[in-house]
Amino acid sequence: QQFPDVFKICQQFELDEDTMGKIVQIMTNEIYMGLARETHASSSIKCYVTYVQDLPTGSERGKYLALDLGGTNFRVLLANVISETNVDVISKSYAISKDMMKGPGTKLFDFIAESISQFCKEHKIENDNLPLGFTFSFPCKHVAIDKGILVSWTKGFKSEGVVNRDVVELLREAIDRRGDFKVNIVAILNDTTGTLMSCAFHNPNCKIGMILGTGTNACYMEKTSNVEMLPGYQTSRKPFMIINCEWGAFGDNGELDFVRNSYDNAVDKRSVYPKKQTFEKCISGKYMGELVRRIVVDLMDQGVLFKDATWQTLRKRKTFLTRFLSVIESDKPGEFGNACKLMDELGVKGCEEEDLLCLRYICRAISTRSAKLAACGLVALIKKINVKDITVGIDGSVYCFHPHYHTLLMENMGLLLKGSTKFELLRSKDGSGRGAALAAAVYTRRPPASP
Ligand code: BG6
Ligand code: GLC
Repeated sequence: QQFPDVFKICQQFELDEDTMGKIVQIMTNEIYMGLARETHASSSIKCYVTYVQDLPTGSERGKYLALDLGGTNFRVLLANVISETNVDVISKSYAISKDMMKGPGTKLFDFIAESISQFCKEHKIENDNLPLGFTFSFPCKHVAIDKGILVSWTKGFKSEGVVNRDVVELLREAIDRRGDFKVNIVAILNDTTGTLMSCAFHNPNCKIGMILGTGTNACYMEKTSNVEMLPGYQTSRKPFMIINCEWGAFGDNGELDFVRNSYDNAVDKRSVYPKKQTFEKCISGKYMGELVRRIVVDLMDQGVLFKDATWQTLRKRKTFLTRFLSVIESDKPGEFGNACKLMDELGVKGCEEEDLLCLRYICRAISTRSAKLAACGLVALIKKINVKDITVGIDGSVYCFHPHYHTLLMENMGLLLKGSTKFELLRSKDGSGRGAALAAAVYTRRPPASP
């Protein structure tokens, strides 16, 4: 209240209980539309089938390879499932350059194949033909457990010649071009699916997997009889299938316009794909820092914030990283130790305590809205699944590193569910590594029955 200009802007990011209830309703509607053949095309939550119908039982054992493309790093992993409580994972990250993200698809897949080759040779497994689970965290239309057609790129990727192609085929072609190692690609999965698998390995109550990192998305266990987009869904012998919601695209048909504001519009306008991934742009790590930056720059221009400080670099896009929100918000009330340290690192000189207080207030507004919107999505899924007790497995840098995100999610989900369902949010460690390895284990052991 002491800083009316700051307060006025942050107010635009507030969501009250009624508005959140409305968002849950709209999301639920989109989920139903995504599942149904007749309305699937017009829904903004596509609910893609994954062909994953078996969760790990806890009895899986053995060595598996996994790939993780689509988070902060591209990684190759070797998982040795020794027992239910002991999964030994070795991994190596390989940097994907901006050029690679945007250049020809063959270059990207050749690089992936080269990384696997290096990794396999390092661990002397190049001739072992190990089963491999490929975590490919982008929207895919699955035709089988090991066949996924890329619908569109998200999170800044724009590699050419990949959209509408089977990603597994592209990878197999790149591996064949080299011919210097052998792997058996048995499954392609989304990171949310990996997260669910990884959590379900220990916790059979886990029915939802969510990512809150660079991007955001969730998947859940749906009754196969509701999955109209699956050929033969009415006669399938398997009772459940994991559905990849791709909820990052929620709002692409304007459903979120009643809560979005001029800052959201500005972030969207300068993004790699304007008018796409609307929900994701409001809540995920790729965009939260940029929202804060735009607000602060506006307040600097109005002469309200950082009046006596020099922070010119902030005028450049993407210079305020989402990681900074976590740092700033981890200071206790009345303390600014972490924020001061960050300002020093950034070379910002001459800022006052009240600048830092306002900065924290702005960060808090952005992270709170993010958690509230994510809570709406989770509540929509919990209501759809309709059980009395559920576990949600979660991964991603925002959830894992933000000091209050977990609490904010818990509070807001509690508010919306009003005690109707008992829920638990569990960090699901390394969805792509353990999850993809477990998917590989499940589908090497038991090929999916035809529907
Ligand atoms: C990792 C998971 O921990 O989180 C990946 O293993 C996932 O599967 C990633 O893609 C998402 O988080 P971020 O922050 O890297 O986008
Ligand atoms: C993006 C991708 C989605 C992924 C999510 C989290 O929204 O489209 O597939 O699950 O990011 O990484």
